[in-house]
Amino acid sequence: MSGIKKIGVMTAGGDCPGLNAVIRAVVKTAIQKYDLEVVGIRHGYRGLYLGEQEFVPLGLHDVSGIISKGGTILYSSNKDNLFDYTYVDEHGQQHRGDVSDVGVENLKKAGIDALVVIGGDGTLTSARDFSRKGVKIIGVPKTIDNDLASTDTTFGFDTAVATATEAIDKLRTTAESHSRTIVVEVMGRYAGFIAIASALAGGADAALIPEIPYDINIVANAIRENRARGKNFALVVVAEGAKPKDGGMVISKIVENSPDPIRLGGIGEVIAGQLEHLAGLECRATILGHTQRGGTPTANDRILSTRYGAYAVEMLMEGKFGNMVTLDGAKLSYDSLENVIGRNKSVEPDGYWVKAARAVHMCLGD
Ligand code: F6P
Repeated sequence: MSGIKKIGVMTAGGDCPGLNAVIRAVVKTAIQKYDLEVVGIRHGYRGLYLGEQEFVPLGLHDVSGIISKGGTILYSSNKDNLFDYTYVDEHGQQHRGDVSDVGVENLKKAGIDALVVIGGDGTLTSARDFSRKGVKIIGVPKTIDNDLASTDTTFGFDTAVATATEAIDKLRTTAESHSRTIVVEVMGRYAGFIAIASALAGGADAALIPEIPYDINIVANAIRENRARGKNFALVVVAEGAKPKDGGMVISKIVENSPDPIRLGGIGEVIAGQLEHLAGLECRATILGHTQRGGTPTANDRILSTRYGAYAVEMLMEGKFGNMVTLDGAKLSYDSLENVIGRNKSVEPDGYWVKAARAVHMCLGD
């Protein structure tokens, strides 16, 4: 037996549809199957640092009805790396260095035997580091970007793609009415999964992804060719991390005290300006931004989140600490946090997404 009686659950990093469904599954499995106590740690790792004031008991009534809710009932933070901690107070930015021992101590004080940490790359890097310090941890792969290694899919991705696809459907009718090119900028960080998937689902004319650097003249030519065939509008989906063959990504801001300080964004406007000039149609850019992270999770994400959350508890009870739950085809599995971190996944330039796009003559800018 694992000897676990009380577990903590935390959400950290950017929020993502399905977080609440995972929390619900963790709480229900822990209480109803194993008779455990569950403590929610609010505001991610900052809550772990602050201790008691951010630790809340979670019962069945707390998770009732949250499966369909976006966001996270535990709140989140994507700035608090306790292994190199900086925070901002009324006196400005305070650098505290490595305060991870405070987190470990707070868990002990609260009698928490093990943790389920729901997060992406940055969050799970800290989870790995806490695991190295002996904390019993299981990670759950969250991110709309779908860029975590070792798992076929992260939860939240399906909803982000659905949101982007719905937007593309809406933009199609206005693009057609006005004979315009509309450039739709989607999120995804350094990976093009949301872009290629929503471009395929939305029937876009072009998709520009970080994995395939583009030549803007090739995109303009594709739009002109379509016009020659009588199509007087165009939809171009651009990943925020897309880059031209001879240039770099567009950075929108630097978030100083974040473990991953670079925020991408703005490429959509750049491309719209260029295409208006080169392709001959009036052009507009729409940046979908955080709409892709908000709102109700899709049915698929609710199911995946539920499976992940329940499996995370099973793994804790089996003593399989230091791992992240994964999806391998239809089957749940796991991989060590040591192996997951630092190997982010990207769209394979010869993989099935790209093959499908090329098959329907979508321009990829190359
Ligand atoms: O990782 C999720 C994500 O939404 C990325 O797609 C995006 O680049 C980033 O987070 C935005 O971060 P923030 O919410 O800090 O602006």
